[in-house]
Amino acid sequence: MRDLVVAMTGASGVAYSLRLLEVLVAAGRTVHLTISPAATEVLRHELDLHVDLDKFDTQQLLPSNDEASLDSKLKLLKPEEVAVGYAASSIFSDSEIFSGKIVYHHYRNYNSGIASGSFLTDGMVICPCSMGTLSSIAMGQSQNLIHRAADVHLKERRKLIVMPRETPLSVIALDNMKRLAEAGAIVLPAMPGFYHGPRSIHDLLDFVVARICDQLGVKNELIQRWGDKPSA
Ligand SMILES: Cc1cc2nc3c(=O)[nH]c(=O)nc-3n(C[C@H](O)[C@H](O)[C@H](O)COP(=O)(O)O)c2cc1C
Repeated sequence: MRDLVVAMTGASGVAYSLRLLEVLVAAGRTVHLTISPAATEVLRHELDLHVDLDKFDTQQLLPSNDEASLDSKLKLLKPEEVAVGYAASSIFSDSEIFSGKIVYHHYRNYNSGIASGSFLTDGMVICPCSMGTLSSIAMGQSQNLIHRAADVHLKERRKLIVMPRETPLSVIALDNMKRLAEAGAIVLPAMPGFYHGPRSIHDLLDFVVARICDQLGVKNELIQRWGDKPSA
């Protein structure tokens, strides 16, 4: 079992990446994490998390104790509504969750192992993937470590999953997605289904995270799958 690479870029939906990190680490995987400057803007805006890319610490991805639930950060549901949701209270409440299993790489550090094909991985996920990063990868511009690591995964014919978030989509964005898909990437939009009976934001996050994990071959039971009977 090899390490995985996760990159966060400046598209809306950073909650997806935090949930993904939590699930991958809980599954016993070591994750090489890199974050773009724009992603820190989104982390601050959407989750009130202050991440310093030059002095990074995984604790910066955890909420303060008084606001332990992701829903309270998202400010979309009232606490009593959150309580209805599946596993809502456990998410991000344990500061041990990220310890030791996340290896951080500065987005400008081309000396990092993930900048080279000789560094073996089981795949890379860009979650969320901005239209800017999508374009840079589609055009082969290795302007930062995220683009470079993605390029490496494509050239080595390893799994590259991009989770774009934008709506509506321009022809340019659609062309870039097609180009990446033709180059071997999996384009997996932040587009949760509703057929699994979501009752909270977490259920919607988990729908997409489950699909990413499925692509990575990481076993998960995050959602009830189509065809599975609900437990009595
Ligand atoms: C709060 C916030 C939300 C954003 N949401 C999106 C988005 O959903 N999709 C997108 O493509 N860009 C979005 N952007 C713009 C990108 O962050 C911007 O284009 C940036 O240059 C992307 O850089 P990166 O790809 O290096 O992360 C958002 C920016 C901010 C500050």
